[in-house]
Amino acid sequence: MKVKIDFSQADMPNYVEVKSVEEKSIQSLKILREGTGKGNDFLGWIDLPEQIQEADIEKINKVAERVRQNSEVFVVAGIGGSYLGARMVIESLKHNFDTLMERKNPTIVYAGNTMNEDYLADLMEVLDKKDYSLAVISKSGTTTETAVTFRILRNHLENKYGKQEAAKRIIAITDKEKGVLKTLADKEGYDTFVIPDNVGGRYSVLTPVGLIPIAVAGFDIKRIIEGAIEERKKTLFDDSNNNEAIKYVVARNILYNKGKSIELLVNYQPNLVFLSEWWKQLYGESEGKDFKGLFPASVSNTTDLHSMGQYIQEGKRLMFESVLHVKKSNKHLSIPKLKENDDKLDYLLGFSLTDINHKAEEGTRLAHLEGNVSQITIEVEEINEQTIGKLIYFFEICCGISGYVLDVNPFNQPGVENYKKKMFALLGKE
Ligand code: PA5
Repeated sequence: MKVKIDFSQADMPNYVEVKSVEEKSIQSLKILREGTGKGNDFLGWIDLPEQIQEADIEKINKVAERVRQNSEVFVVAGIGGSYLGARMVIESLKHNFDTLMERKNPTIVYAGNTMNEDYLADLMEVLDKKDYSLAVISKSGTTTETAVTFRILRNHLENKYGKQEAAKRIIAITDKEKGVLKTLADKEGYDTFVIPDNVGGRYSVLTPVGLIPIAVAGFDIKRIIEGAIEERKKTLFDDSNNNEAIKYVVARNILYNKGKSIELLVNYQPNLVFLSEWWKQLYGESEGKDFKGLFPASVSNTTDLHSMGQYIQEGKRLMFESVLHVKKSNKHLSIPKLKENDDKLDYLLGFSLTDINHKAEEGTRLAHLEGNVSQITIEVEEINEQTIGKLIYFFEICCGISGYVLDVNPFNQPGVENYKKKMFALLGKE
C-alpha cells in the first residue's frame, strides 16, 4: 500500500500544522498498540491475522466445502458488521457477471440486512426452487432485522427439508455464550462458530463472520489472512511518518481540522462499490460521535463523474477525496484497429482500457485539485485475495488510530441504540 497526498492550494497546511497532527497520530498508534486507550476491550482485531490457526482455516473450509456440495444458493443473514465485510470481499473478487456464468460455487445472497417485505418474499420465491444453506450471523444474537429474517427462513428451511436436514443446512455465527441465537443453535445442533468477545462487528471480517461466506464463495481465505499479516507488520510497529497508515491518518485529520466535513472514498471500478460500503460503516460508526468526525461518503468513477462529479467540482467546498488507485487490472482489453476511423477513436489506439481509466483518474485528480478538493491517493497493485487482506488491515488500523486522534472511542456505537429503543416502543416490545 502506498499513500500519496496532494493538498489543494486552499488546504495547504503549514509545517506546524503537519507536525502537530503527525505527533498526535504516532502517539495514537502507540496507544492502540499498547491497549491503553478508550474501548480497549475491543482490540482483538489488531492481532487477529496472526492468531488464526491452520486448524481454524481447515474447519471453515470443511464446512464451506459441504455447503458447496449441497447448495446452489447460500444465504448470508446479518446486518452492519455482520455482513458488510463478507460482501465487500466477495463483490471485489467475483466475476462481475457471475450469475450469468456457469457456476462452480453457490450464489451468495444477502438477507437480514433489511425488513423490506418484498425483498424477503422475492428471495423465498427463489429459495422454493433452489437447494440452499444459510449462515445466520449476529454477535448479540438479538438484532431485529437478522432475527426476524432468520425466523422466517428457518421455518422455510424446515418445511422444505424437514427439521433434521434443515439443522444441517444452518450455520450460526455468534457470541460464545450470550444471546438467544447461541441458545437456539445449541438446542438445534447447528454448526456454530464464535465471534470473539474482543472483536466488534465492523472489525470482524477476518473472523468466521467474513471468512465463512468468503470460503463458500470459493475464495482463498488463507491468502486474505496472509495479506493482512503483511500489512500488520508494516503498519503496527512503525512509529514514524514513513508509515503509510500514519500518512493517511495525518492527511485526513489535517483536512478535518481545516473544516472539511466529508471524506469521499473514490474508486474506478464497479466491483469495489461494496469496499466503500464496508469502509463507510467502519469509519462512520467508529468516528461519528461526541458531535465529531468526518462523514464518510463514496463515489464510483467514472460512472459518478457524470452525476456527482458536477457537485465535487463546483458545489459547496465540504469534502476531500481518498482515491483508491489500482495499478493493474486482472484482465486486458485494448482498443481494436478498424478499417475506418468513423467513430474518431483512433487517437486511443495503443491504449488499454486500464490506461484510459487511469488517464481519466489523473485528469479528475488535476481538475478536482483546481476546484480545491484535496486528494489522498491509496495505491494498490491489483485486486486479489492478498491485496484485499492488506486493504482490510490498512483501513482498520487507520480507523483505530484516527479515532484516538479525534479523542473518541472508535470501538463502540452508542448512537445505534436510539432508533432501536424508539422502534421497540412503537412495536410494544417489553
Ligand atoms: O459494527 C457493529 O458493531 C454493528 O454494525 C453490528 O455489526 C450490527 O449492528 C449487527 O449487530 P449483531 O452482530 O449483534 O447482530
